[in-house]
Amino acid sequence: MDKLEDSQHSNLQEIEQEAFREIGGAKSLDSLESLSTKYLGRKGILTAFLRNIPKLPVEARPSAGKNANLLKLRLEEVFNRLKAEIESNFDSSDQIDVTLPGRAFTRGTLHPVTKISREIISIFTRIGFEIAEGPEVETDYYNFEALNIPKYHPARDMQDTFYVAENIVLRTHTSPTQPRVMQKVNPPVRIIAPGKVYRCDSDVTHTPMFHQVEGLMVDQDVSFGDLKGTLTTFIHKLFDEDISLRFRPSFFPFTEPSAEVDIRCVMCRGKGCRVCSGTGWLEVLGAGMVHPAVFENVGYDTEKYTGFAFGMGIERLAMLKYGIDDLRKFFENDMRFLRQF
Ligand code: FA5
Ligand code: MG
Repeated sequence: MDKLEDSQHSNLQEIEQEAFREIGGAKSLDSLESLSTKYLGRKGILTAFLRNIPKLPVEARPSAGKNANLLKLRLEEVFNRLKAEIESNFDSSDQIDVTLPGRAFTRGTLHPVTKISREIISIFTRIGFEIAEGPEVETDYYNFEALNIPKYHPARDMQDTFYVAENIVLRTHTSPTQPRVMQKVNPPVRIIAPGKVYRCDSDVTHTPMFHQVEGLMVDQDVSFGDLKGTLTTFIHKLFDEDISLRFRPSFFPFTEPSAEVDIRCVMCRGKGCRVCSGTGWLEVLGAGMVHPAVFENVGYDTEKYTGFAFGMGIERLAMLKYGIDDLRKFFENDMRFLRQF
């Protein structure tokens, strides 16, 4: 080995020693990065050494080139390994910016039907009514027979019934809770029964599933005046004192006399529109004095007791209260509609 070759060799050894000494002290990605540039970058020490090789004497070139390239590969390997190690131990906790606004969770709201049901329940419980419940899948007996609607009676056509089996129906109204309650308890009775009912019916004021609240009061000397007073008080509490309502003579097989109660249409304020079918009024409930035949079916003494009953459509009341022009919107689950309440 001549002198020149020897000096090149020791030169490369120095570079190697210095590089590994510096790498040993590097603790961060940044310092590794700058060392990598210092030795292997375009203007790096090792790069300069390699670039200088063509200027070496011919016989010195092969070994200088080979050794320098080997060193280059080792350094690259060491830089990559150390960078990967530092990255995998990277603790993200000091990178969290606690001043950033949090992620907001969208919160649900009560369905308008739920809201108004709760209001109705609270008004009646405050004046002494208790809550009763009955099944949605009901027997023909409770839905019809016990309510003085025998088989083949024309009144069965008043409600388009979904039959589940020969004598089993989806209840068409909440009225079957009346005989169910009266069979269990003796007067005085004062209950409301909220729940879902089903009819084969669909247009702007009718949906195949809707909600009713049944009311029943039985005691000695209960009169039609009590019925009128209770319902008027209720409507005024739910809406406000100056809302107009009217009692209109009607027919139900399980009440006598019977009435239907209408409220001034809030959409057109009585002028007549598609919601009220041009009448200016919207029917919200049916009511009447409990028919003696119903009392007989449950074994109540018809000489001693009288009572009133009513059944109201919750969606109809919600429609009027919130000024909604199509009852079907309550069940289409359009979030833009539901979020307004
Ligand atoms: C009845 O269902 C009787 N059971 C009410 C009753 C109870 C009378 C106790 C006497 C004593 P009617 O079919 O009219 O009656 O319905 C009562 C109310 O339910 C209606 O006034 C209306 O507000 C509402 N309603 C009826 N059909 C629908 C429907 N398809 N969609 C939404 N609401 C309805
Ligand atoms: Mg009716």
